[in-house]
Amino acid sequence: MSRPAFLTTLILLTLTTPAQADAPAAAIADVCRNCHGTDSNTEIPPLPGAFNAASLKQKLQDYKTGQTDATIMPRIVKGYSDAELNAVADYFTTQNPN
Ligand code: HEC
Repeated sequence: MSRPAFLTTLILLTLTTPAQADAPAAAIADVCRNCHGTDSNTEIPPLPGAFNAASLKQKLQDYKTGQTDATIMPRIVKGYSDAELNAVADYFTTQNPN
């Protein structure tokens, strides 16, 4: 690649890559599934289909704002934007249990 072409490519990549893109809901859900199993034999409740979207969003927001005091979840949800949390809540409410 010639130098000008390389520079053009570099500039285009810089312009088209958002600084902090929201992760897709399915990718975030994979993180949640590491702890929230799909069966009910776990102390950590399964998430797919377990809550309606509004209540799941509220639970995540309550962890984020400190409204709900807990050990693990407040740390996790603080790593995601509100849009990401809403997207993963919508995602889980469309999934069937198991
Ligand atoms: C490291 C393990 C772990 C991961 C990863 C994890 N959770 Fe949790 N989750 C827990 C634990 C443990 C609890 C119980 C509360 C606490 O101790 O924080 C919980 C509680 C919850 C609750 C409350 C359930 C109820 O009955 O009120 C919701 C909702 C929830 N998690 C959603 C999520 C979502 C969505 C994700 C992915 C973004 C996620 N969790 C990722 C461990 C985890």
